Amino acid sequence: MLLANVIAVLASSSIAAAYTPNKQGSQYRYPFAQPYDQSFLDGYSVLKHLGGQGPYSNRRSYGIARDPPDACVVDQVIMLKRHGERWPEARTASKFTSSLDKIYATNTDNKKFAGALEFLNRWTYFVPEGRYVALETYNGPYAGLLEAYKHGADYGVRYGHLWDPTAANLTIPMFTSGFERIAMTARQFGQGFFGWNYTDVVALNIVPEESYLGANSLTPTCISDNDTAVCDNLTNYQPQFDIAAERINSQTPGLKLNTSDIYNLMQMTAYELNVRGFSDWVNVFSLDEWVAFGYTQDLSFYYCAGPGDKNMKAVGAVYANVSLSLLNEGPDKTGKLFLNFCHDTNITPVLAALGVSSPADDLPLDRIPFPNEYAVSDIMPMGGHLTIERLACNKTALSDAGTYVRLLLNEAVVPFTGCQDGPGFSCALSNYMQLVSGSLPDFISTCGFNESYPQYLDFWWNYNTTRAYDYDTQHPIPAGEGALTYEGTPA
Ligand SMILES: *[C@@H]1O[C@H](CO)[C@@H](O)[C@H](O)[C@H]1NC(C)=O
Ligand SMILES: *[C@@H]1O[C@H](CO)[C@@H](O)[C@H](O)[C@H]1NC(C)=O
Ligand SMILES: *[C@@H]1O[C@H](CO)[C@@H](O)[C@H](O)[C@H]1NC(C)=O
Ligand SMILES: *[C@@H]1O[C@H](CO)[C@@H](O)[C@H](O)[C@H]1NC(C)=O
Ligand SMILES: *[C@@H]1O[C@H](CO)[C@@H](O)[C@H](O)[C@H]1NC(C)=O
Ligand SMILES: *[C@@H]1O[C@H](CO)[C@@H](O)[C@H](O)[C@H]1NC(C)=O
Ligand SMILES: *[C@@H]1O[C@H](CO)[C@@H](O)[C@H](O)[C@H]1NC(C)=O
Ligand SMILES: *[C@@H]1O[C@H](CO)[C@@H](O)[C@H](O)[C@H]1NC(C)=O
Ligand SMILES: *[C@@H]1O[C@H](CO)[C@@H](O)[C@H](O)[C@H]1NC(C)=O
Repeated sequence: MLLANVIAVLASSSIAAAYTPNKQGSQYRYPFAQPYDQSFLDGYSVLKHLGGQGPYSNRRSYGIARDPPDACVVDQVIMLKRHGERWPEARTASKFTSSLDKIYATNTDNKKFAGALEFLNRWTYFVPEGRYVALETYNGPYAGLLEAYKHGADYGVRYGHLWDPTAANLTIPMFTSGFERIAMTARQFGQGFFGWNYTDVVALNIVPEESYLGANSLTPTCISDNDTAVCDNLTNYQPQFDIAAERINSQTPGLKLNTSDIYNLMQMTAYELNVRGFSDWVNVFSLDEWVAFGYTQDLSFYYCAGPGDKNMKAVGAVYANVSLSLLNEGPDKTGKLFLNFCHDTNITPVLAALGVSSPADDLPLDRIPFPNEYAVSDIMPMGGHLTIERLACNKTALSDAGTYVRLLLNEAVVPFTGCQDGPGFSCALSNYMQLVSGSLPDFISTCGFNESYPQYLDFWWNYNTTRAYDYDTQHPIPAGEGALTYEGTPA
């Protein structure tokens, strides 16, 4: 008997009747429904192989509860969030069209596409010129503006106890780096979090992405980063792309895609998901090829913006170090909510500085490691975020009453390496402070900023209280790739 028939018989009403619900209590379970899912299909989802280019997905967790441990309440939150799902930048889109042009050029006499590309007989390209470029997407299941609003709305429930809607004259600052898509994300998040009160409570501070700000920035850089490390030699090539090129070319007379075209088309697929929510291109490539594409992204972040570049730990030290000051001061002195927004490559250095997702060995260049501790789709997809929770805990059988810290990356608790002495695998604040401050390199000297530059991030303490930048009043049609000034005007 086929398995499908067995299931059909088991599910038929006469069999089901034998399992009449016990109306008395909670013992009843519908027959054969699995109360604990056995499939765990995350690894087979294309979203886990798009690196930072595709829609948000939660990090695969260790199973540690997301809610605070029983004895604890969250009393302060420091979040650093990447912008949401977006349209491609113009430079990237031009690579998509150059590879597409090669394909359409084979279609000379209006003959139909066949094989894996058959859908091209109906497909249309999805990136118009101009006003959409590099901005947040707004339609479809993975729309960036939707993701940011929904994230804000979720956190408004989770952390709503950290602000008082009945307070008089309340100002809560939020901080966005000066870039159009990031400010858009911050504004959506803020409206989701604070609702109608966004307008009267939040003071959105725009911190320009200028190197003259030194350490007083959400986007610090290394101006003396002159070591031509592995980063400069990465090619985005993987042997699996040869297989894809050969297969697709063999099905399409006259087509000569090379491995760069395969990379471009796979990258384009990620953006089609950001824009449309579905993509016929997903099935043009095999899962092995998607794994290989994902690894090109892991290599790039690891060696160019992560633990594989020695300067990046120093860049990330700015935020890692200054967050210690806030945690140490606690909620009553400076504030309870610190909501910050920037780019992917500004957050991965912070993770490197904190030792989160840092593999013991450098990622290999000649093969894909399994398991891979540095999967960017788990680390920094579109909308990715690092959330630091300060916990006020009562005494438990395990730990004393006191202050503890937890790190959450894309909603998964990531226990701090070498310190899990608190409830819910959290780390005592004093131990956390000691471990982190003792391990950070010095940003100013490592990255070539002398004493003429700001030496610390201090806008969390010295912010503007104006509500003037809470909304985009500058751009009826936003300027896509635009850097912004303090006033939200194009830099
Ligand atoms: C901590 O203990 C106090 C005093 O018993 C109690 O009021 C409070 O609810 C406890 N907090 C948590 C998070 O259990
Ligand atoms: C939030 O909005 C409500 C309704 O407009 C208002 O009464 C309240 O004062 C606002 N809270 C703050 C902190 O501004
Ligand atoms: C709110 O702030 C304004 C201006 O700073 C001040 O005039 C007013 O008294 C304050 N209101 C309250 C209730 O504190
Ligand atoms: C790189 O920068 C460092 C520090 O600024 C300097 O000492 C070194 O000479 C530079 N190396 C090259 C190749 O420019
Ligand atoms: C990068 O490639 C160049 C040229 O092939 C080579 O000389 C250099 O050693 C490579 N650098 C690294 C860090 O692999
Ligand atoms: C693939 O072809 C394009 C031109 O269509 C070229 O620019 C690119 O360098 C080629 N890539 C490889 C790996 O040969
Ligand atoms: C961290 O910040 C403190 C001031 O709060 C400063 O004394 C220390 O030098 C900083 N450490 C690094 C590595 O920047
Ligand atoms: C600091 O560096 C800047 C840029 O390199 C340079 O113009 C300036 O003279 C330096 N100032 C000091 C005090 O060394
Ligand atoms: C506040 O705004 C002014 C200009 O509008 C700017 O010079 C200053 O640096 C801003 N401060 C912060 C913390 O953004």
